Amino acid sequence: MIKYAQRSTFALPMIEIRNLIKRYSGKGPAAVDDLTLTINNGEIVGFAGLNGAGKTTTIRACTGIIYPTSGTILIDGADVVSQKTAASSSVGWVPELPNFEPNAKPMQLLKYYGGFYGMNSEESRTRGMTLLEATGLSGDTNKKLRNYSQGMKKRFSLAASMLNDPRNYFFDETLNGLDPEGIRYVRKLVTELKSRGRAILLSSHILNELETLADRIAIIHRGKLVEVLNREKIDAVMQNGGRLEDHFFSIIGLNV
Ligand SMILES: Nc1ncnc2c1ncn2[C@@H]1O[C@H](COP(=O)(O)OP(=O)(O)OP(=O)(O)O)[C@@H](O)[C@H]1O
Ligand SMILES: [Mg+2]
Repeated sequence: MIKYAQRSTFALPMIEIRNLIKRYSGKGPAAVDDLTLTINNGEIVGFAGLNGAGKTTTIRACTGIIYPTSGTILIDGADVVSQKTAASSSVGWVPELPNFEPNAKPMQLLKYYGGFYGMNSEESRTRGMTLLEATGLSGDTNKKLRNYSQGMKKRFSLAASMLNDPRNYFFDETLNGLDPEGIRYVRKLVTELKSRGRAILLSSHILNELETLADRIAIIHRGKLVEVLNREKIDAVMQNGGRLEDHFFSIIGLNV
């Protein structure tokens, strides 16, 4: 079992997205349009939307990989643009399509990442090995990452996201492409991260998964946040055999 620090306070919001607008070009609608969302400590927020709705764009802006056109994103109070180093150090991110230096072996890369977080080689190795075991990769440490399957890359990305035990997580379609064992692992993991006060934004097309895992579900459509369902609302939607999927389609105005 991995030993982690407990989060000392559950009071402050940890991921705060305020009026985020992202335009990739001057023409056409914004990819993300005036999105405001807070993910609190100890909270799993599901992020649902159709292909192209703006989930990955929002997440990439939160990780500082792309700049907002306007709006503010605070991670543990640090602005992702003007205080990028502080903000990044408290974020774990599993991208939609994880990609790594193809010739590196997993431990080499974990040690390299550990360096950014001020961990020495031995710390990175010990913690890295525990995480590779937890993500089911301990038998594949001698392979180069170019020889990892897509699901194995996702598992490795999960391990890397937890290296410095950050307080906030962005999981972009992390359940997608994992085998049943991997899905079960991620379910358990997010629940455990939640119990330790971590803030988690989990994007997924799999509404059934969000239904059971999330404390709230944020629905984004054409760049706009159209509804945030709390647990009470989710349960009400699902009462008497109701389906979140049907609610989702009615909210975005699609009759399929
Ligand atoms: N690098 C980019 N350059 C230009 N436009 C982009 C870029 N990345 C995304 N977009 C556009 O931004 C919009 C939102 O895309 P985004 O990838 O955020 O959607 P998504 O909700 O993650 O979709 P999916 O469910 O398919 O992953 C889309 O219209 C997309 O075409
Ligand atoms: Mg996406």
